[in-house]
Amino acid sequence: LPTVNVRLTVNARQLALDLDPRTTLLDALREHLGLTGTKKGCDQGQCGACTVIVNGQRINSCLTLAVMHAGDEITTIEGLVEDGDLHPMQAAFVRHDGLQCGYCTPGQICSAVALLAEHKAGWPSHVTADVATRPALTDAEIAERMSGNICRCSAYPNIVAAIRDVNE
Ligand code: FES
Repeated sequence: LPTVNVRLTVNARQLALDLDPRTTLLDALREHLGLTGTKKGCDQGQCGACTVIVNGQRINSCLTLAVMHAGDEITTIEGLVEDGDLHPMQAAFVRHDGLQCGYCTPGQICSAVALLAEHKAGWPSHVTADVATRPALTDAEIAERMSGNICRCSAYPNIVAAIRDVNE
């Protein structure tokens, strides 16, 4: 197939790429932009290792084509660092030892950041819209909402503890 020119906004940088239109967002990030923090586990939407944040929502980047994301705001694990400082969620994962081999960690952290943003925004909609009075997520709710991210080392208790820490 002929390549197509795709303009992507990744970690606040505007980039133009010539891509085979069948290129997944995951492969565009890793193979074309060198952003290898985003991991490829299953490449079929089952493990969550490839999770990135697109327009504030978490998605499996292996399940979507790069050409579909022209104009979207894409944030990867590399983009969470600000002025050399770890994002609070990254720091919490370090503090709580929320990883073992680390392969799933970028996806876990991107998912967790978007999860708390969802919660703050009042998702699901039956939750009170008043951010000030909305209770923090319980451990069970965190675990359920993180169920799309698999950790083969089973670091789940520490992952939940890290997210709870940022959530409180
Ligand atoms: Fe995308 Fe597993 S690599 S969900």
